[in-house]
Amino acid sequence: MAGLAVNVDHVATLRQARGADYPEPIAAACLAELGGADGIVVHLREDRRHIHDRDVHLLRQIVQTKLILEMAATDEMLGIAQKIKPDLVTLVPEKREELTTEGGLDVITHSASVARAIDTLQASDIPVSIFIDPDENQIQKAKEIKADMIEIHTGIFCDAESIRQRELAFDNIVKSAKMAHGLGLGVNAGHGLNYTSIKAFKGLMEIDEFSIGHSIVARAVMVGMQAAVREMATLIKEL
Ligand code: PXP
Repeated sequence: MAGLAVNVDHVATLRQARGADYPEPIAAACLAELGGADGIVVHLREDRRHIHDRDVHLLRQIVQTKLILEMAATDEMLGIAQKIKPDLVTLVPEKREELTTEGGLDVITHSASVARAIDTLQASDIPVSIFIDPDENQIQKAKEIKADMIEIHTGIFCDAESIRQRELAFDNIVKSAKMAHGLGLGVNAGHGLNYTSIKAFKGLMEIDEFSIGHSIVARAVMVGMQAAVREMATLIKEL
C-alpha cells in the first residue's frame, strides 16, 4: 500500500505573505501526522521564500514519522542536510523565478554534480531520491549514479489539457514506475496531485509514496489540516 508524504511549504507561504509568525508549519506537520501522514516534506529553497532554516531544525525535532527535505544539489544545502540528517533528501531543480518546481531534475545533463551530491549524502547515511520526469533515460541514469529512489514528476499528467495528453502522460508514469521498480529503485510520485487526480493511480502498486502539498493545504483552509490529510490518506489507501 502506498503512503502519503504531506508537504507543508504552503503553510509557510501564508506566514511569509504577511511577514507574520503564523500560521506555524510545525503545528501543521503535527496535525498532518495526526491525520495519517506517513511523512512530512519541506523544500528549503535558496531564497528562503517559504520554509526557513528554523522550520527545518524544529521539524527534525518534532516529526514522528519521517522528515523529507527537498533541496537543490548545492554545497550550502548539502551542508545543511548533513547537519539536520533528514530521513530522506529529494534532490530537485531550482530556479529563482519559478512559482514552484517546474520539472524534473535533468540527471543526464547534471550527472556529475548530482552524483557528487548523492555520494556526499549517502556517506552521511542519508538516503537520496531524485525528482525526475517520467523518462526511461533519466531513470537509467538515476540508477547508474546510485540514487536510492526516484520521485516521478506527475505535473505533466496533472496539467494535461486534453484527454489524449493526459492518457499519454499517465502511460509514461506507469512505464516509468514499473521500470524504476524493476531496477530496484524506490518509487515516489508527486506534483500537482489533488483529490480527483489521485484516483487515476488505482492498481499501480509500484508507487511507494505520494508527495502532496498544495491541494491538501488548500483543502485544510476549508476543513482543517487533520481532516484534509485524513481524506487524502483514505483515498490513497483505496488505490
Ligand atoms: N514533489 C516535489 C519534488 C515538489 O517540488 C513539490 C512541490 O513543492 C511536490 C512534490 C508537491 O507538489 P504539490 O504542492 O503540487 O502537491
